[in-house]
Amino acid sequence: MTAQRSFQTHLSAQDPAIFSSIRKEWAREEDGLELIASENYASQAVLEAQGSILTNKYAEGYPGKRYYGGCTFVDEIESLAIQRVCQLFKAEAANVQPHSGSQANMAVYLALMAPGDTLVGMSLSHGGHLTHGSPANFSGKLFKVISYGLNPETHRLDYDQIRDLVLKEKPKVLVAGASAYPRIIDFEILGKIAQEAGSAFVVDMAHIAGLIAAGLHPSPVPHATYTTSTTHKTLRGPRGGIILCNQDRLKAVNSLIFPGIQGGPLMHVIGAKAVAFKEALTPEFTEYQQQVITNAQALAADLMELGFKLVTGGTENHLMLVDLTATGDGSISGKDAETWLDLAGITVNKNTIPNEKRSPFITSGIRIGVPAITTRGMGRSEMKKVAQWINRAIQTGGNSDQLGKIRSEVRELCRAFPLYAQPN
Ligand SMILES: Cc1ncc(COP(=O)(O)O)c(C=O)c1O
Repeated sequence: MTAQRSFQTHLSAQDPAIFSSIRKEWAREEDGLELIASENYASQAVLEAQGSILTNKYAEGYPGKRYYGGCTFVDEIESLAIQRVCQLFKAEAANVQPHSGSQANMAVYLALMAPGDTLVGMSLSHGGHLTHGSPANFSGKLFKVISYGLNPETHRLDYDQIRDLVLKEKPKVLVAGASAYPRIIDFEILGKIAQEAGSAFVVDMAHIAGLIAAGLHPSPVPHATYTTSTTHKTLRGPRGGIILCNQDRLKAVNSLIFPGIQGGPLMHVIGAKAVAFKEALTPEFTEYQQQVITNAQALAADLMELGFKLVTGGTENHLMLVDLTATGDGSISGKDAETWLDLAGITVNKNTIPNEKRSPFITSGIRIGVPAITTRGMGRSEMKKVAQWINRAIQTGGNSDQLGKIRSEVRELCRAFPLYAQPN
């Protein structure tokens, strides 16, 4: 990505407080290394669509069947978004209205289950998402949840174990997908397991949607009853959700999104989703996703060479999990590492590791992803520097002078890979 043309704003005069915070956030994004695996930098075209006058329009309903007048042009936009996302993921049908990944999951669950029905999903502490059955989330409150975890030795999905569990519980829904799993997920096997148990199969591909769009991770779409995703992670679009399915499943989920759980669609976001789907259909996007995997594997190798232990010993996608119990005397927590790296201008998130002994607020690991720094154009030599900075920052034990020194080195590198022009 190259620096984009400057964007003029009325905000500086009209609302200096918000303008000032946006400008500081701009500086943070420009000058820091963004290694949160679920974040990315949307293109200027996506930002323009999302910041457009489309935000003004009410359009409850779906293209051609709205509850408001004046929908001719938003119909064009939503129809194009649907057509493009279906082409991208080779799906028969799509709903592009979910405001978020969580709402996409909620709609799909409610289309397939009644409260009290059984849901089998990956446990949060092993890498699943809150919406896959956490007791703190609607999914854990509405449904009877049985969780599967990783194999205690390999720390990978154990398809035999999942099969035994699903055949025993015969859930209404088996949900697959993860927020912190560095390996390929075999959706074909999981789909067969669900079929054998008479369960519906939901795949939440939020994290890996970009890799799937580029054909670099096997697609769940041929195997899943419903496939859900966010649009803002590896897919690099605006913040939001989508649902993909066969034509005969569309009606149920459409009526669950609206009027079931949402009101008017965010047409400015749907416009921005359409722009992102067009971008994702280009050869450049495929090259970008290939580079994401190459960078992740390079960074993983560099970190391991520096002595870090990675869960499963590496990665096959865009992220890796560092197990800090094997670093030094094992006393550094995920929270320590997150805080120290933040002071060094490197943003990661603390993360539980398999067989976690600490609380989810402290943790023993960090999750590192490369989609955002790859969007900036960083490659092999930058990954080496990133690994060294991570190592140095963790070795400082929190020394603020040393972390400040790393921060200025990080800033210098980031300035060679500018993202957006400064808001003015
Ligand atoms: C696998 C997975 N599903 C769903 C979500 C939820 O998406 P949102 O934050 O848009 O609700 C996330 C977000 O991190 C995720 O990782």
